[in-house]
Amino acid sequence: MQASDMDGHGRSAAFARRLFAPLPRRYDVLGEVLSAGQNARWRRRLVDEIVAARPRTVLDVASGTAGVAMQVVRRCEARVVAVDISPEMLLQGRSKAAAAGLGPRLSFALGDARRLPFPDAVFDALSFTYLLRYVPDPQATLTELARVVRPGGKVASLEFHVPRSSLLRTGWRLYTHGVMPLIAAAGGGAWYRVGRFLGPSIEEHYRRFPLEAQLDAWRRAGLHDVGCRVMSLGAGVVMWGTRDA
Ligand SMILES: C[S@@+](CC[C@H](N)C(=O)[O-])C[C@H]1O[C@@H](n2cnc3c(N)ncnc32)[C@H](O)[C@@H]1O
Repeated sequence: MQASDMDGHGRSAAFARRLFAPLPRRYDVLGEVLSAGQNARWRRRLVDEIVAARPRTVLDVASGTAGVAMQVVRRCEARVVAVDISPEMLLQGRSKAAAAGLGPRLSFALGDARRLPFPDAVFDALSFTYLLRYVPDPQATLTELARVVRPGGKVASLEFHVPRSSLLRTGWRLYTHGVMPLIAAAGGGAWYRVGRFLGPSIEEHYRRFPLEAQLDAWRRAGLHDVGCRVMSLGAGVVMWGTRDA
């Protein structure tokens, strides 16, 4: 990780590739541990939104090791494409999917969310997880995500959040800035750097792009019936919307 990445708050494809390259092997376990077991709940809520739309095709963007994509395959009949900018994360996802026998309905594509390698309006639904902190222009990326969803199709996302009440925020800061890096260090140096990066990255994201502004950005991207659910005392948020006709 280079100093310039941290100064720029890590909003570049190159930064994301470097950050995630050494993480896949322990990603699933440490992802759950660092979210204090909440990631699985948030994911379920996100996938609830997708499967309720009864899609036949789903694109899962920033799919990483395919945790969300695999859950969608298991919970509905859809064919799912998992796309991510990190070849290492995708490779881990591919071998997990193969081991679970999910190969036939789950395929993988290397690609950048800012310029997806798909034509307009080809997917019935689209999910994305922990993505917008890594792109320089979240509005442009949201517009690009909405582009590949058919009119009436569903979009849903999951991201960390910062609790609003000052008491909870103080506890959240103590955890993310103090405890999380120490727990992450158990995974090695690369994980320690992630542990130190996450708290400031999440705070900076909401300073730059508060939740209300995000809801507006979803609407400007061509989505309606936009809603969100803040979960786990404010530590996570699931958002959803429907592609305009
Ligand atoms: C925290 S991981 C989340 C992985 C997975 N969705 C999950 O919930 O476990 C964030 C993922 O975003 C990917 N990513 C970051 N920037 C991206 C971009 N511009 N296009 C596609 N994927 C990106 C990273 O490579 C990484 O796999």
